[in-house]
Amino acid sequence: MTDWVNGTVEAMTRWSDKLCSIKVKADLAPYTAGQFGKLSLIIDGERVSRAYSFVNAPDAEYHEFYIIKIPEGRLSPRLLDLQPGESVQISREASGFMTLNEVPDGRDLWMMATGTAIGPFLSILSDRQVFERFDNVVLVHGVREKQDLTYQSLIQTVKSEWFPRFSYIPVVSREDCPEILQGRIPALLINGLLEASAGLVISPLCTQTMLCGNPAMVKDTLTALQQKGLKKNLRREPGHITMENYW
Ligand SMILES: Cc1cc2nc3c(=O)[nH]c(=O)nc-3n(C[C@H](O)[C@H](O)[C@H](O)COP(=O)(O)OP(=O)(O)OC[C@H]3O[C@@H](n4cnc5c(N)ncnc54)[C@H](O)[C@@H]3O)c2cc1C
Ligand SMILES: NC(=O)c1ccc[n+]([C@@H]2O[C@H](COP(=O)([O-])OP(=O)(O)OC[C@H]3O[C@@H](n4cnc5c(N)ncnc54)[C@H](OP(=O)(O)O)[C@@H]3O)[C@@H](O)[C@H]2O)c1
Repeated sequence: MTDWVNGTVEAMTRWSDKLCSIKVKADLAPYTAGQFGKLSLIIDGERVSRAYSFVNAPDAEYHEFYIIKIPEGRLSPRLLDLQPGESVQISREASGFMTLNEVPDGRDLWMMATGTAIGPFLSILSDRQVFERFDNVVLVHGVREKQDLTYQSLIQTVKSEWFPRFSYIPVVSREDCPEILQGRIPALLINGLLEASAGLVISPLCTQTMLCGNPAMVKDTLTALQQKGLKKNLRREPGHITMENYW
């Protein structure tokens, strides 16, 4: 049984009509960057709950979630309709294994996300541990349109603090934008453009990767990385690819 905690919406950032971030105040059990909690609302007399990754650093005073509206979805449209001061329930305990402590050592860490799955990587980036563990950190964010490239100010802050050890590579699939890579992450791995952008070679000798988001991206990226000699990271057999599907 989930232990539900009442949370209060403190602030909302509406990035567009489909994307928003919610900051919630709630007394939760400690969690690790990269983990997710469950948000829930009572809809038509029934509790509806879904998983959402924490975007904030685990020691922040609030809990932040980055959410896309699935127009036909049950919960996400209601979450986007919330207003500051309103309530949302959160699971007291967080879950998930897409955390740095699950990732073996390496020289370079590549974090690759689609859509709102950039959230857990922003949490990991706000925790200094990632730069203590890895010489180079690359964040690849694949989205449909340029307007979906959110959190630019936070990313700029990480860039200015950690240049040249941190690279941010945005990828847009449905718009032609000058100076932004176009297409999908797996194709850009296969044609070498991601490695060229980061100035780093992907190899089992030096690379660790974390993949999160659209399950088709995770699957195709896994295949592309396996072609470069990387292996799935399993607890019983450490490898180079740690993954989480959003659906
Ligand atoms: C571990 C985990 C962490 C997650 N973290 C987040 C998060 O931080 N932010 C977030 O927006 N969602 C996240 N999700 C997805 C979220 O749990 C819900 O599935 C989503 O909000 C849709 O809920 P719904 O009730 O509106 O739609 P449903 O009726 O449940 O519709 C689900 C369908 O919507 C699509 N979909 C679901 N999530 C996404 C997404 N993020 N991007 C694009 N298409 C999607 C898929 O086609 C899926 O089959 C996460 C899921 C998992 C498993
Ligand atoms: N409310 C609204 O107005 C509105 C508008 C649009 C979408 N939506 C909802 O939002 C959802 C989409 O959200 P989203 O755009 O964040 O997520 P998404 O559909 O997962 O797309 C994010 C990125 O992942 C890419 N992708 C898809 N399959 C891939 C694969 N096999 N390999 C690599 N990359 C892949 C997409 O490329 P491609 O572009 O090539 O697929 C896109 O660049 C839709 O399901 C819809 O329900 C709502």
